[in-house]
Amino acid sequence: MEKTVSGNGQPEQPGRRRMLGFLVGSGVMASLASFVYPILRFVLPPQSGELDADTVAAKANELAANAAKIFRMGNRPGILIRMVDGTYRAFAAVCTHLNCTVQYRQSEHDIWCACHNGVYNLQGGVVSGPPPKALEQFEVHTRGQEIIVSKGSRS
Ligand code: FES
Repeated sequence: MEKTVSGNGQPEQPGRRRMLGFLVGSGVMASLASFVYPILRFVLPPQSGELDADTVAAKANELAANAAKIFRMGNRPGILIRMVDGTYRAFAAVCTHLNCTVQYRQSEHDIWCACHNGVYNLQGGVVSGPPPKALEQFEVHTRGQEIIVSKGSRS
């Protein structure tokens, strides 16, 4: 059997070679995983984490009139808006164009997507910009001191 000789004339130890191979292989695998994982996360849709049950969006009197907050509804953001008259409306806060999170514009009394200047009215309908369809609207009701949002039939 022929022995491998390293650059300094000493016989190379097979354990070293194996260790080096393991380290290089591990590095390559880690690099591949770091490239593939984000791609898979982007391509594969997440499991639906939307709640069929009620979601507590805010405490009563947490929002002033003509104000809004983003809340978590399952795995998506929702937007709860307290209208000027004190009533509430809630929508999915996910723009129907490319899924950016929308926000309430107090001065304009509308819902705005900063990504491509998409504008929705306070019924969730598209006013201008690239969004292809209305925001999904949710039902809102009060339970004690909590403002509850549920996925109702108001879309
Ligand atoms: S993502 Fe909202 S307008 Fe494009």
